[in-house]
Amino acid sequence: MKTTSQIRQSFLEFFQSKGHTIVPSSSLVPENDPTLLFTNAGMNQFKDLFLGLEKRNYTRATSSQRCVRAGGKHNDLENVGYTARHHTFFEMLGNFSFGDYFKQDAIKFGWEYLTSPEWLGLPKEKLWVTVYETDDEAYDIWHKEVGIPAERIIRIGDNKGVPYASDNFWQMGDTGPCGPCTEIFYDHGDHIWGGPPGSPEEDGDRYIEIWNIVFMQFNRQADGSMEKLPKPSVDTGMGLERISAVLQHVNSNYEIDIFQTLIKEIAKLLNVTDLDNKSLRVIADHIRSCSYLIADGVVPSNEGRGYVLRRIIRRAVRHGNLLGAKSAFFYQLVPTLAKAMGQAGEVLTQKQAHIEKTLKAEEEQFARTLDRGLVLLDEALAKVENNQLSGEVAFKLYDTYGFPLDLTADVCRERNILIDEEGFNREMTAQRERAKASSNFGVDYNNVIKVEGSTEFKGYETTQAEATVVGLFSNGKAVERIHSGESAVVILDCTPFYGESGGQVGDSGYISAELAKFRTNDTQKYGQVFGHIGVLESGELNVGDKVFAEVDAQRRQTITQNHSATHLLHSALRQVLGDHVAQKGSLVSEQSLRFDFSQPEAISKAQLEEIERIINRKIRENIVVTTEVMDLETAKQKGAMALFGEKYGDKVRVVEMTEFSIELCGGTHVKQTGEIGLFKFISEGAVAAGVRRVEAVTGENAINWLHQQQQVVQQSAELLKADSGSLVEKITQLQDKTKRIEKELQQLKDKLASQAGSELAKQATQINGVSVVVQKLEGVEPKALRTMVDDLKNQLGEAVIVFGATAEDKVNLIVGVTQTLTTKINAGELVGAMAQKVGGKGGGRADMAMAGGSEPQNLETALQFAQEWIQAKL
Ligand code: SER
Repeated sequence: MKTTSQIRQSFLEFFQSKGHTIVPSSSLVPENDPTLLFTNAGMNQFKDLFLGLEKRNYTRATSSQRCVRAGGKHNDLENVGYTARHHTFFEMLGNFSFGDYFKQDAIKFGWEYLTSPEWLGLPKEKLWVTVYETDDEAYDIWHKEVGIPAERIIRIGDNKGVPYASDNFWQMGDTGPCGPCTEIFYDHGDHIWGGPPGSPEEDGDRYIEIWNIVFMQFNRQADGSMEKLPKPSVDTGMGLERISAVLQHVNSNYEIDIFQTLIKEIAKLLNVTDLDNKSLRVIADHIRSCSYLIADGVVPSNEGRGYVLRRIIRRAVRHGNLLGAKSAFFYQLVPTLAKAMGQAGEVLTQKQAHIEKTLKAEEEQFARTLDRGLVLLDEALAKVENNQLSGEVAFKLYDTYGFPLDLTADVCRERNILIDEEGFNREMTAQRERAKASSNFGVDYNNVIKVEGSTEFKGYETTQAEATVVGLFSNGKAVERIHSGESAVVILDCTPFYGESGGQVGDSGYISAELAKFRTNDTQKYGQVFGHIGVLESGELNVGDKVFAEVDAQRRQTITQNHSATHLLHSALRQVLGDHVAQKGSLVSEQSLRFDFSQPEAISKAQLEEIERIINRKIRENIVVTTEVMDLETAKQKGAMALFGEKYGDKVRVVEMTEFSIELCGGTHVKQTGEIGLFKFISEGAVAAGVRRVEAVTGENAINWLHQQQQVVQQSAELLKADSGSLVEKITQLQDKTKRIEKELQQLKDKLASQAGSELAKQATQINGVSVVVQKLEGVEPKALRTMVDDLKNQLGEAVIVFGATAEDKVNLIVGVTQTLTTKINAGELVGAMAQKVGGKGGGRADMAMAGGSEPQNLETALQFAQEWIQAKL
């Protein structure tokens, strides 16, 4: 029997023998394709070849492509675990022709690979095919050339309502390459329910589609029209897990070798004996998508791809919880998976530590709220009416407990309950409105400022420039003139002022005309123009006035230093922590720089020191910083770091610090790194799961910061009468001393208490020859009470001792009874009865028992009760 890894390999070899180039799987994060959330088919990486936009040195290719179908257009997440074949992750085997062979070869290759004894050797009579209704050519090839009898060839037309919407017309998405297809089905046998494609029972598990051969002929346009491709091409896809199931003689994909290995490992980890438990299947599926997504650079987050990953991890963790997992388990599956995947597991092995850390951190974070959320959900489900869970509850679970909606739906599904999704969306919108309202202060000029033309930015070369006022805005509208004292936004035809962007704050400074002076506090970009925001300090300013614009050069210099330091930081972080570090946000101002980046766990002190050391070394190397405008492709080839998900034009600005750092960036930068002077971290912490934030200062600010630190040390040293070198030693000594003093104090207290005990002995009353002490004490700790009772017992011979002590707003009760009296008076019983009177509970042994209560005002009553109780028993 062939293993899944062997099948993968044999497929690639077969097509290689037919002149195909083996192309490695591409990343799950599609490059340069904003229409796609995740890679979901083998053809994705070849899209531009089909469209004729790109040429390579081959026209035939074959691959085994990792795919994820979750969260986007093809979303299988909610069905995973409940069916035999839905997965969030799967591998697609494919062969492709880019204007090379077409229908005939495509069909013949497929047939040969499946049926030839040299390759898979499947029995021909078990194979059925479908063709697009009007595709007589494909029909004839199958029927006349391959020899499949007519009853096993089914024509499928537009069965989904509109033209070309058909099981036999494949489209990558709303736009892009598409064409009619022919599919090959395998008949798993009549012991399984289901009918051939196109029949009413086609959804059963008997006839399973294993291979889809698409005859790519069109490029679908956004308006729905079909443009012909330059050359007819072929794109095929065969689900690896499905063909494995066929060859391993099982019906469900979960029974193939890879899944069985995983399921057994999970069962072992969680002590589960029922290997058919569907939660095992869910976890086995999810560890695959999650591991590969993380390997391909996705980190759990609250939006986009990161949120899909988070949803899958949390769903897996919830199913682990169902199976009784007590602590993080999911991450432990990575090595087993990497091994089970054979060659396709190598990418996992390379990034194993990173994948494990990321998963563990996410698991642990979710574990903190999962149990409480489940309790809330259980309570809500118990009260559900009309089989529908309210949108408010689902939203609360989402907002407070981190339950993605599909996770809540998953729990509900087990009880046949639906979620009021409309209600959930209403809550979500309301929350967004609230957030918007609270951040909407001042006048929003974004929709107001509309000026023809654009502002030319001169600030890379200079901080001063002559310019003309081309627009003025005040009180939210365009004006021709502004007056002394008026707040306004000034638009110039050209400016040296940097408008806030790419994390760098806007410049400040002055704009002056002959008789007017405008103080610019901030500069922002509004479309193509720069707005100088500030106040006219004197005179009058008119549209059309000639002005002199001057940036606060010192402030700009500090900002610039911080920005260049941010680039050094970015590279140093990657060098020390790894390539998974990707920028998530930054703020570069005149005070400091802040940098957020993907990183699953805290950074150690030693790592921070190393990063700081590297940056300062690069500062001392005084590297020349160059900037150059080039086209995006060239920049990429140079290895420039770009912000993931950011849109760049054809021409980009590349900032380079020799080999150490190359980034796409529109900000201002120092000429040589030496200008930065000094780099010092001032904080490091988490901002969201998987995202860390560091803050740092440079140059003069770094020196000032160090001075402040030094002052704290000096002042502390003075207070402790030590020098800075012996400060730590001195503090340790002081701590030891404090501990010693506390201990002595306690001993003294105990001693005082026992002396008080002797006093109490004198106050004992005699009842039938037994000494009885019932006393109220104040401010005595429970431990001291016990010592007092023991001492008194020793002093008094046969005795019953009852103390009630108040401490803050609590009461402590203790009852001691000499052993010989315990048949008459049981200390535990008495203290329990007393406790009830002071709002508490307690009990204990028959000769010594303690209790606590919360009603000190009732202590007298409790003692009175004890007195009478003892009297009655003796
Ligand atoms: N692109 C087609 C599919 O995904 C064939 O590879 O089914």
